[in-house]
Amino acid sequence: MTLAAPPERPSEPAGLAVVLGGTGGIGAALAQGLGDRGHAVLLLGRRTQPALDYADEASVARCALQLAERLAHTGESLGHLIVATGFLHGETTSGQRAEPERSWQHLNADSLRHSFLVNAIGPALVMRHFLPLLPKQGPCVAAFLSARVGSIGDNALGGWYGYRASKAALNQLVHTAAVELARRNKEALCVALHPGTVDTALSQPFAKTGLQVRPPAQAAAELLAVLDALPPGSSGRFFDHKGLPVPW
Ligand SMILES: NC(=O)c1ccc[n+]([C@@H]2O[C@H](COP(=O)([O-])OP(=O)(O)OC[C@H]3O[C@@H](n4cnc5c(N)ncnc54)[C@H](OP(=O)(O)O)[C@@H]3O)[C@@H](O)[C@H]2O)c1
Repeated sequence: MTLAAPPERPSEPAGLAVVLGGTGGIGAALAQGLGDRGHAVLLLGRRTQPALDYADEASVARCALQLAERLAHTGESLGHLIVATGFLHGETTSGQRAEPERSWQHLNADSLRHSFLVNAIGPALVMRHFLPLLPKQGPCVAAFLSARVGSIGDNALGGWYGYRASKAALNQLVHTAAVELARRNKEALCVALHPGTVDTALSQPFAKTGLQVRPPAQAAAELLAVLDALPPGSSGRFFDHKGLPVPW
C-alpha cells in the first residue's frame, strides 16, 4: 500500500511552541494542534507553573527568563509564540464585575483598565520579554489573537467600547512590533489573528442563534492553516480564520 505524502508546509517553523493563555478555550486547542503536529509545546497561564499573570508584571519577565534558560540549556529554538490571552467579561483585578458596554453610559474606568491590561498591556509586555527569544534567522511565528470587533474600519454596530478599543490598541502594538522584528529576522512573521466566533467561556454569554459558533479544535486547525499559508509580506498584518485580511 502506498501512503500519500503529507501536505508540504514549507513555511512551518520547527522547534518549541509556546502558547500564552494555553489554559483558555482557543489557547488549549492551539496547544493541542501544535502538539499533534509534533512540536514540543509549553503552556503558560495564570494557573501554570511558573504562572504568567498580566496583573503581575514580574511574572511575565520570570516566565520569559525561564524560557530563555530552557532554550539555552536544550538548544531548542522558539518556532511559535502564540498569545491566546484575552478578556471580554468577568472579574477585574479590583474584584468588580465587567461586562461589554452597550452604551457610553456604561463606560467605567475599572472595566476599561482591565480590558486594556489583558488585551493590550499584557501582550505588550510579552513583546518586550518574549520576542527577543525568537531566532535571529529562519522562519518563526509570533501570533496574537485579536478580534474583528477591534477593527475600526469594520465597526458598524458600536458598543463593546473597552474590548474594541483594547483590541485596536493590540493591533497597533502587533504592527509596530512586526516592523522592529523584521529588522532582526526577515523571515519572522508577527501577526494579529481573528479566530471567528468560537465556543469558549469568553463568547458563551453572547453566542446568538444564527451566529456561526465553532468548536475550539476547529478554530485552532483553521488558524494554524492560516499561519501555514500566509505568503511573504504578511508580517505586521491582521487576518481572520479564513486567511482573509481584516481592515484596521
Ligand atoms: N471565543 C471567541 O469567540 C473569540 C472571538 C474573537 C476573538 N477571540 C480572542 O481569542 C482569544 C482567546 O479567547 P478564548 O475564547 O479562548 O477565551 P478564554 O477561554 O476566556 O481564554 C482567555 C485566556 O486569557 C487568559 N487571561 C485572562 N486574564 C489574564 C491575565 N490577567 N493574565 C494572563 N492571562 C489571562 C485566561 O487565563 P486563565 O485560563 O487563567 O483564565 C485564558 O487562558 C482572546 O484574545 C479573545 O479576545 C475570541
